[in-house]
Amino acid sequence: MIDGFKPKVAVVLGSGLGGFADEVKAVAKIPYADLPDFPRTTVSGHAGQLVLGHVGPTPVAVLQGRAHYYERGKPDEMAGAIRAIAEMGCETLVQTNAAGSLRLDMPPGSLMAISDHINFTGVNPLFGVDANRFVDMVDAYDPALMKKLLAVAKEVGVVCHEGVYIWFSGPSFETPAEIRAARVLGADAVGMSTTPETILARHAGLKVVGLSLMTNYAAGLVQGALAHEQTLAVADASAGQVAALLHAFLERY
Ligand code: HPA
Repeated sequence: MIDGFKPKVAVVLGSGLGGFADEVKAVAKIPYADLPDFPRTTVSGHAGQLVLGHVGPTPVAVLQGRAHYYERGKPDEMAGAIRAIAEMGCETLVQTNAAGSLRLDMPPGSLMAISDHINFTGVNPLFGVDANRFVDMVDAYDPALMKKLLAVAKEVGVVCHEGVYIWFSGPSFETPAEIRAARVLGADAVGMSTTPETILARHAGLKVVGLSLMTNYAAGLVQGALAHEQTLAVADASAGQVAALLHAFLERY
């Protein structure tokens, strides 16, 4: 993509977390619109550009914004982008997202390393793919890298929980009954992204690390309605500690 630049780690920045891209010593910033395989993002809080550069000594490819299944009803919205980062030579995909918390001990503003996911949508980004489609999903979130993320969090003084992410299609938020069901199933955080990219990344042979920022309690956990504006406001307020953790993790990669 840029001659002679080979990123080691790719980072997807979730809703309201795009500001981390400013921490990259950029060698190039390319709008998705100029990249044929990259998605057209339609969600506020998702800029839609690829930033190539360094965090400390580590060469990175930062995807500032992602497309979601709910935008066009296509679970493989991110297939081209994931293929592109694999072809550029990335070995790991770090995923960030904004999520709803199913745990009272993870209030809005909390961070959670993703240990595993539950695909609750019934769709899969590998529908229609025939090459190597039976992808193993044991340890889909690389246990050694998650341990490293948690160790780095401790080192830089950021509290980071660990838990299971459940993917709902959106764009409507979940009902309280759905969230009660998700808790019974073993979920700790809920969101509308990440799972399809993890599946695509594992299909492409990339290791995956996941980091969720709780922007709200999930539906029904506490009184009150949910709104995307709250997601963006809490993400904005907590972006600093997400950035600090990401920076430290990437620098030490
Ligand atoms: N549900 C789904 N997606 C989300 C939520 C939520 O409560 N918060 C942020 N993204």
